[in-house]
Formats: sequence, C-alpha cells, structure tokens
Amino acid sequence: MPGMPDALALAGRTISLCLTGGIAAYKSVYLARLLLTAGAAVQPVMTASASRFVGKVTLSGLCARPVLEDMWDSSFAGEAHVALAEQSDLVVIAPTTADMLARLAQGRADDLVAALALVAKSPVLIAPAMHPRMWAHPATQRNVATLRADGRVRLVGPVEGPVANGEVGLGRMSEPEAIFAAIVEALGARTDLAGKHVVVTAGPTVEDLDPVRFLGNRSTGKMGFAVAEAARARGARVTLIAGPTALSTPRGVDRVDVRSALEMQSAIDAALGPALERADALVMAAAVADYRPATYEPEKTKKPKAGKAGDVLSIELLRNPDLLAGVGARRSGGRPVLVGFAVETRDLVDYARRKLRDKRVDLVVGNLATHGFGGDDDEVVIVDEASAEPLRASKRQIADALLDRIAGRLA
Ligand SMILES: Cc1cc2nc3c(=O)[nH]c(=O)nc-3n(C[C@H](O)[C@H](O)[C@H](O)COP(=O)(O)O)c2cc1C
Repeated sequence: MPGMPDALALAGRTISLCLTGGIAAYKSVYLARLLLTAGAAVQPVMTASASRFVGKVTLSGLCARPVLEDMWDSSFAGEAHVALAEQSDLVVIAPTTADMLARLAQGRADDLVAALALVAKSPVLIAPAMHPRMWAHPATQRNVATLRADGRVRLVGPVEGPVANGEVGLGRMSEPEAIFAAIVEALGARTDLAGKHVVVTAGPTVEDLDPVRFLGNRSTGKMGFAVAEAARARGARVTLIAGPTALSTPRGVDRVDVRSALEMQSAIDAALGPALERADALVMAAAVADYRPATYEPEKTKKPKAGKAGDVLSIELLRNPDLLAGVGARRSGGRPVLVGFAVETRDLVDYARRKLRDKRVDLVVGNLATHGFGGDDDEVVIVDEASAEPLRASKRQIADALLDRIAGRLA
C-alpha cells in the first residue's frame, strides 16, 4: 500500500481498538486487520451500540481475543478499564459517535470505552464519524473544542465525503489507512534502522557436563528478544543468536539457536563475517558462561559412594573466550556499533565504565542482579563514554532507548 510503513512497524505494541455505534464500524474491522498485519496485538472493545453494527465474532476471530464490552463483567480479574489501560500502548476509538464525543468531553465513565479513555496512560486517538449536521451542530463543535483544549485526545478526521445515507459533507470517518498512519505516528514508530543489519545475542549459554547435567545461569533472554523485536520494528534486518530459552521468535527475525559459549562465538563470527563487515550493530545481551567444564563425559556420571572421597566433588573448568572483548579488539572505525550488558550486584556505573574501556565497546547497559531476571520491566543505566542515563521502564522501552543511541551512531 502506498505510504505504508514497514510491515512490522507495530511489532510488540498492544492497541485497544474501541468501536462505538455508527455505520462506519464496519471499516474498523479492516483497521484491525491493518494493525494486526503490522505486528500489533489488538484488543477489541465495543460499546453496546457498536455490537448492533458489526459482529463480535468477526472481531474476536480476527484479533484472537474476546471482545470486551462490559465494565461489570465479573469474569475479568480486577477492574477491566484499569487493566486495559495498563496494557495499552494506544487507545483508539474508531468510529467515535457524537454521543461518545459528548461523553468524552464531559469526562464521563459510564461504559468501558469511556472509562478506558478517562483512565488511559497512553495516547488516545479518536476518529469521529457522523452525519454532517451532527458534526456541524454547535453542541458537537463545543465538545470537540473542549477535547482539543484539554489536549488529552488526538483527533483524526472526520473528512468530507458521502456518509451512510449518501449525503455528502464533513462527517465521514477517515479511511482505515489514514487512521493507521495516525496510529503509527502517535506511537512514534520509526524506520530509522531500515537497511541495517543488527545482530543480537540473548539468553543464557549452558555448558554441558554430561548428557543430563549442565552449568547455566538465570538469564531468560527477555531483554535480548525485546531488542531484536524493536530493531525489526524499526526496519532492521535482525539476526538473533539465542541460548536455550522458552521465548518465541519475534516475527520477521532470523533466529540461530546455540547452546554453549563456543557455539555462540561461532554463530557471532558467521553473522558478522571475517572482517565484521556484515553487521551494522552487535548487541550482546546474552549471559555468556565465563567457564566451561574441562571435559565432557559422554555417559551420565555416576554418584560416588558417600564417604570421605565422595562428599566433595571438584570440577575442573576452562576459561571461555570473552566474546564481547573479542569483537571489541578486532573492530576498527566504530563498526559494528557494539553494545554490552553488565549485571552486577553493586557499583554498577563504575563497573560498566570499566567494561566500556577495557572491552572497547560503545555502550554498556548495566543492571543490578536484584532487578531484571525474568520480568517485563527493568531498571538499568545506559553508560557511554560521556554519560550514564538511568532508566526504569519496560524491556521494550529500554530496547528502544538503546536503539535510539545505536541509530544515532549509525546516522
Ligand atoms: C442505523 C444507525 C446509524 C447510526 N450512525 C451513527 C453515526 O454514524 N454516528 C453517530 O454519532 N451516531 C450514529 N447513530 C446513533 C448512535 O448509535 C447512538 O447515539 C448511540 O447511542 C451511540 O452509542 P455509543 O456512542 O455508546 O456507541 C446511529 C444510529 C443508528 C440506529
């Protein structure tokens, strides 16, 4: 479609798509389709009147989520409107009826859509649709002026054209493509990594002792996967080199599964090329084992009998190569942009700075081992040679903050 952004521009974003009771509701089914195609998760919400115009089954089938319409639904754990606000990166009301405009202008919260708009943390985008005389009426215009003055919702449309009964005038809902473009803009979706190759490592490495035992660590891979997903959404070609993790591959990302540090090294070498010429950025979010067992036992090792000799077991370990420092040492001219992660239990910034210098990397994301493992949010410090920026946000937001820095260096 002309003017459409990258097909995965909304990957990882959750959008509450609210329909109110106007004939233009049929167009919002196609809008849902556009959002899903762009990688968004779409939560359909309807007023009671909206469900007179389009079938709930159509939207729930398309979005693979039940349609929410009842604030009083006791099957919903907690307060539906508040929970929805928490999970929404954007609330869209399309179509927005004259009646909903009036309720929004008054700050009413008498159904799920109105309450969600009032409690939303995210931007709220509304696409009015009504007969031109309804739109032109001083009461509606007063409501629109109030909403504009409050500055809490963004309007897209209405536009001139034929409305439901064939009359022509200003009141027709903007086309789904125009609403889609406004959503992309409201979410600040960017394509600043188009044409770039970003390599990301994620998850733990595990070092096998025998066919059933290994040495590992507590990394889940969520941070690296968030970086991969965000980089893809910004237009990059992404290679994700992942240690063992339960996470599913973000759409459009090339994934290479590895197990040990040495396997990860080989996969990085293959992705970067002999002169590091194949990648524009390397983000090393994996927790790579510092040591591996000196020997691998091909058969399961038996437990020695209890007693003096069997009560203490020593395992000889060999040092693994430092993958980050290895790339840092071979790099010249600042390419690929190199990002490391540092998990510490104290003195975070000092340690991150030291890592930055010793390993010759551009950015180090430091986090405390007390935060971060397995959660969706994190508290980090992004350290470069000149600054240390503390950030408490979702892993996706942290990923985007990091990619802002990377895109800046690549520009
Ligand atoms: C056939 C039909 C079409 C309607 N189309 C519109 C419309 O396009 N825009 C509008 O503002 N109201 C329209 N209405 C009126 C709304 O459905 C009505 O005001 C309703 O209470 C809106 O509820 P809601 O805003 O909670 O969805 C229409 C009503 C009917 C019966």
